[in-house]
Amino acid sequence: MFNVLCRDSLSIAGINLLQATPGLNVIVNNEKADKLGAAGIRELLREADGVIIRSDTKMTPEILKDQPRLKIIVRAGVGVDNIDLDAATRAGIVVMNTPAGNTTSTAEHAVTMMMALSRYIAPADASMKAGKWDKKSFTGTQLAGKTLAVVGLGRIGQSVARRAIGLEMKVVGYDPFLSIEKAAEQGITLYRDIDELLPLCDYLTVHTPGGAETKSLISAERIAKMRKGVRLINCARGGIIDETALADALESGHVAGAALDVFETEPLPADSRLLKTKNLLTTPHLGASTEEAQESVAIEAAEIISGFLIRNEVRHAVNMAPITSTEMADMKAYLDLGRRLGLLLAQQNKSTGVKSAVVNYRGEAASKKTKLITNAFACGLLESALDESVNIVNAELLARERGIEITETTSTEPSDFHTMVQAIVQTDSGELTASGTIFGKQFLRLVRLGKFSIDAYLDGTMLIYRHRDVPGLIGYIGQICGRHQVNIAAMALGRLQERQGGDSVAILNLDSEPSNEVLEEIKKHPEVTGVEVVKLPKAGAPLPWLVSK
Ligand code: NAD
Ligand code: MLT
Repeated sequence: MFNVLCRDSLSIAGINLLQATPGLNVIVNNEKADKLGAAGIRELLREADGVIIRSDTKMTPEILKDQPRLKIIVRAGVGVDNIDLDAATRAGIVVMNTPAGNTTSTAEHAVTMMMALSRYIAPADASMKAGKWDKKSFTGTQLAGKTLAVVGLGRIGQSVARRAIGLEMKVVGYDPFLSIEKAAEQGITLYRDIDELLPLCDYLTVHTPGGAETKSLISAERIAKMRKGVRLINCARGGIIDETALADALESGHVAGAALDVFETEPLPADSRLLKTKNLLTTPHLGASTEEAQESVAIEAAEIISGFLIRNEVRHAVNMAPITSTEMADMKAYLDLGRRLGLLLAQQNKSTGVKSAVVNYRGEAASKKTKLITNAFACGLLESALDESVNIVNAELLARERGIEITETTSTEPSDFHTMVQAIVQTDSGELTASGTIFGKQFLRLVRLGKFSIDAYLDGTMLIYRHRDVPGLIGYIGQICGRHQVNIAAMALGRLQERQGGDSVAILNLDSEPSNEVLEEIKKHPEVTGVEVVKLPKAGAPLPWLVSK
């Protein structure tokens, strides 16, 4: 018998389904997390094989530590930002979510906010309830004919775009992981540079994942580039629109109105400046709060937790893939190589759109489960852009849904190396290539970067600089790193013509991240033509989506 704990007022539809499933013992506890405290939640989890949570329960490292019974956490909803994925993975706990169940409700909420904002519904209601009949103060704006910018065109962003087109709005969008053609099919004009669409819009709504990558994506500078009178909506994650910049712009009148469902700190403190800001419409994270969405995510959560505990099925896993431990031992280095090539090329792609990718397998690599390696590559390519749910199972599909076709070719004929994986990414501004090999059973090496052959370690902090190969340059860079206490662990050089003065690339593996000052000093050398830092996991770091128990 498996114990399943249901927290955070999961819809009764999901609880009923679990209770009707033989082999499961269902425990319901809806006490608020801050009342229970970490110790109380730890205690509840101690007897649970699986738990379903919404957003109230935070799965912190402290809570997840030493929970030998717990095998699975299911988030009834999309965002897994209340679960420490590293801690869960390290503890061997599978994390799954229900990505599509609340898409429609959240899209409807964003459109509702846009409409309510345009017609001053909340202040007009408050004014009437205060005994006034004030028609003059609430002259609104019509949506038809206006331009809406949608930033982040995944499930919810596209759903909002469809609804806005139905309202006769013109929709422009920005999402580096959607193709221009796929967007055009839906009537969306996609821009490859977010700054280009800012001056065009009357409304802007964000639908990207939250987290460090998108924090303050809509910054003070970007708000300043928008037309005076623009209206902004955030029903994704708090802080994607910088809260201070937004409050300033509302107060100055540059932004005519804003609607927020999500906040950097939730619950929003009662003394928050935002609550006193004029023309701001707020709701307390209600995007997915409809009976339909809550029922849909609860039923899906119940199905996936019972499928996992009873039938060992894996669906919508955020941190593991269906691969047995025997296959794992054989494939681990290749999966790691594929992911690292994806991570490397994603970071080399400076905000232009990814169109397609091809992964070529030569020699021993071609005899492996190349589909899994290609998926691991797709994970690396997409993982910082999507809402944390990309894994080895769904990465290729997610890429395809965004119009990015990832193909592969195989040839067991060895090339220069006994085994080689070459990845080529086509972007709007050209082609990016990287090839890797495995020395021994586990040592990963980058053997080609663009047009350069090289032999570099594929891990940690990599400082990559392009230059003309002249005497003294290595010493110059070594001195800069030394002066700034940045230790060089390894160095590799690749040059095009085997002679002095030719185009070259160098890769330094550093023991710490170089500051901007270091990069700026390196750039000052007249023979240096480009400098970048690529961050990869440390050698041997576990793959985030694999759990070996
Ligand atoms: P999704 O993964 O389907 O879509 C996210 C999209 O953002 C992807 O297409 C990705 O390519 C794009 N993206 C990533 N980084 C970007 C960037 N820097 N600039 C532009 N685009 C970028 O996710 P989804 O299901 O559509 O969810 C979107 C957001 O809504 C998430 O933050 C999710 O947590 C949130 N959400 C909120 C509620 C709510 O109650 N308010 C409910 C559900 C989801
Ligand atoms: C989600 O990530 O699914 C939403 O933010 C909704 C929620 O947390 O309830």
